[in-house]
Amino acid sequence: MPHRTTFSKFLIADRRRSAAPDNELVALLNDVQRACKFIAAAVSRGKLEGPGGLPNRVNVQGEEQKPLDVIANEIVLRNCEAGGQLCGMVSEEMDEPFGIAPDYPRGSYLLAFDPLDGSSNIDIDMTVGTIFSILRAPQGVDEPTAEHFLQPGTQQVAAGYALYGPCSMLVLTLGAGVHGFTLDREVGAFTLTHPDMCIPEATCEFAINASNERFWEPPVRQYVQECIQGKAGPRGVDFNTRWIASMVAEVHRILIRGGLFMYPRDTKAPAKPGRLRLLYEANPMAMIVEQAGGAASTGRERILDVQPTGIHQRIPVILGSRHEVERLVRYHEAHDRGEALVFTTPLFNTRSLFLTA
Ligand code: AHG
Ligand code: MN
Ligand code: MN
Repeated sequence: MPHRTTFSKFLIADRRRSAAPDNELVALLNDVQRACKFIAAAVSRGKLEGPGGLPNRVNVQGEEQKPLDVIANEIVLRNCEAGGQLCGMVSEEMDEPFGIAPDYPRGSYLLAFDPLDGSSNIDIDMTVGTIFSILRAPQGVDEPTAEHFLQPGTQQVAAGYALYGPCSMLVLTLGAGVHGFTLDREVGAFTLTHPDMCIPEATCEFAINASNERFWEPPVRQYVQECIQGKAGPRGVDFNTRWIASMVAEVHRILIRGGLFMYPRDTKAPAKPGRLRLLYEANPMAMIVEQAGGAASTGRERILDVQPTGIHQRIPVILGSRHEVERLVRYHEAHDRGEALVFTTPLFNTRSLFLTA
């Protein structure tokens, strides 16, 4: 198929069209996609990969670290440190920012990544992924510290994820649309198969970990209640749910057929305002979702506008089809104004106050 557009070819053509072509960014993205191919290969080998019997460890977040989390982290570091485009990296699996070794040249970019998202799914052979966010290093900074990564998501130069499922895919935004590439394993190249991905504005599908219901805030409870009442409830339509426990897979589903994904603020662990991490989960996914015509909010603020305060900071996430995210934002606003979210009349049963759109 000589006319097929590979990831590298796409990048070169895209940068040529741009006002300020940036070969450094092209080279960095090529390193990232190579890392994703190695991870795809490692993941697909399952227990055949690496020394058997490696114990699970605990990462800086206090979470169980699977051997493949560590392997995927190493793969990204080793593939991206030497090219001369980066001056630092942060990862879910590393306590502190990773400094580029002195023998390698420094570049203008910073990389934040989640090497293996959804890794609790690894042992059951379900879809997992890698999430990445590219920022500019502040001018004159050669040895970045944590504070240099604390830039709002609006500053991202590029964001993407790789998905390791029945096929492996790489989905990328450079700030002008979202494009999906499928790994052609015979050729060894990510190949453009999903140009200009677009999230439908409306949806009847939502994803949330329902076992946390007792910890949710009233606006989220209200929203989910209304959805599960289906046709008989205030929404007047039946909803469907999905929960894969792998953000990459949820976001990918939403890019393909619409939907809403939430890991909202809850009171389960009061010290943690959410489950997902801002720098390498929420921000890159929010940029992708917005670029595909969807929306991403904490419920109270656009995710991309949040000023980070820590490299492993967690944040509530509500993202996907625009109409549903906007509805949830309205419910949060009403709640914060002290308005009751529902009224009950004997005539109309339970009705929502927010029936618009
Ligand atoms: P990670 O595997 O990188 O720690 O992230 C998993 C995240 C995310 O992918 C998913 O949406 C969520 O955690 C799943 O949470 P539950 O364990 O509550 O289902
Ligand atoms: Mn993750
Ligand atoms: Mn992870």
